[in-house]
Amino acid sequence: MKDLLFPVAVIAILTLLLTQGCAKDEGPFYVQPPLDTINGFDTVSFADVVLPIFIQHCWVCHPPNGGMDLGLHNAYAELVNVTSTGYPPEKRVVPYDPMASVLWHKVISSGEFGLAMPPNGVITTEELLSIRSWIEQGAMDN
Ligand code: HEC
Repeated sequence: MKDLLFPVAVIAILTLLLTQGCAKDEGPFYVQPPLDTINGFDTVSFADVVLPIFIQHCWVCHPPNGGMDLGLHNAYAELVNVTSTGYPPEKRVVPYDPMASVLWHKVISSGEFGLAMPPNGVITTEELLSIRSWIEQGAMDN
């Protein structure tokens, strides 16, 4: 019985090492979370999330640049489904469709519609994701 103890112990340790090793190789399955999860909210609020971005980064020039007011009271009405002053017949913001929205092209510096916005380039990736989610969710006045 005593002679068996050593081989049994060795097998037990080897088994433990092997199974631990395998578990580690496989790793946890990583699934890319949707953007909204990264942002930490399901529905982006225009009033609470998007408007403060415009006030902070854009209002200093709008009005009057681009014939557009991105301030507290007028931003929504001057953006959603409104024809661009500089790039007609394109719309400033097309609900559900960032790539059809002049504003989105400008904030990602796509070069399709003149200058990148803001021209000093201080907008963060998180702010960009919020703007995109807001447009994708229908550019609601929420
Ligand atoms: C330093 C001044 C400045 C800041 C800050 C700025 N813009 Fe502009 N913006 C301009 C100028 C000048 C134009 C007109 C020239 C052009 O279209 O590139 C313009 C044009 C635009 C237009 C096109 C309007 C139209 O109807 O043709 C959009 C949309 C826009 N800006 C969005 C933004 C957003 C969103 C921000 C903030 C993230 C921002 N801008 C910040 C100066 C600025």
